[in-house]
Amino acid sequence: MKIKKKNIFEKFHLVDKVDLNKFKTSLFNGKILIPHGFSSLLSLINEVEQYFLNFFNVSINEFVKDNSIFLEEKEIIQFQKSIKKSKVLYNKFIIFLKDLNFDIGDTYCDQMTIRFSPSIKERARGLLKPVKPHRDTWASNFQHQINWWIPLHDLSNTNSIFFIPKYFTKKVKNNSKEWNFELFKKGYINSSTPVSIQNFNLVDYKTKKINFGNAFCFSGNHIHGSNLGNLRRLNIETRTLCKKDVIKFDLPKNVDNYNLIKQGKWFKSLKDSKFYKND
Ligand SMILES: [Fe+2]
Repeated sequence: MKIKKKNIFEKFHLVDKVDLNKFKTSLFNGKILIPHGFSSLLSLINEVEQYFLNFFNVSINEFVKDNSIFLEEKEIIQFQKSIKKSKVLYNKFIIFLKDLNFDIGDTYCDQMTIRFSPSIKERARGLLKPVKPHRDTWASNFQHQINWWIPLHDLSNTNSIFFIPKYFTKKVKNNSKEWNFELFKKGYINSSTPVSIQNFNLVDYKTKKINFGNAFCFSGNHIHGSNLGNLRRLNIETRTLCKKDVIKFDLPKNVDNYNLIKQGKWFKSLKDSKFYKND
């Protein structure tokens, strides 16, 4: 019998109306959704490109294609901090969420961050370092977390991020028991998130080349991590929580997270900037 391979990646376009229930049901079932052709998303990306050009005097495309262009780490960090503070970007992201029919009054969002991923021959510079396979839920402890990962240029197959969907609902050995956010902030541990301590089979790593203007939108329960290639990669990313999703959807179960502290203060209401109150 021929077993049909399940495609976990699913492109979707801005048609008349996005069916948000269908969107979230697929997402919490483990589908990795790829918004395509959203002008609101493009406008957000263009804004970051413009900031980058004004700040570094080089375009993102030039920077990622030419490994000889060197940027000082302290400047990278300064730029990353300015992206986190940008109200313009935050508002553009809200417009994109509105296109997806998100209930903005019920949505809480982490800061928007820009990640500089090095080529395989370079050391990582800046605030966010490449991470081994992990679930974001091991750190935040919210099973309804949605991750948004937006590249700032066309990707290649070797420098996209990877997913290990086989383990979406299966236990994975990890160090969530020992990891603690306060210890990370104080510099006692290096990793910004718990990571897996198990070796995965190479065939289980799934990746997809997506282009400028597209994004990955996926459950925070997916095992994922950084693939490094011959060229650098730049992306913006954030995470959201919608309070009502806890009761409205069948969320992925926590099967292997032993860090039981919920990080409500990572997420602020898009309506009134109040922190997410733990359910
Ligand atoms: Fe992550």
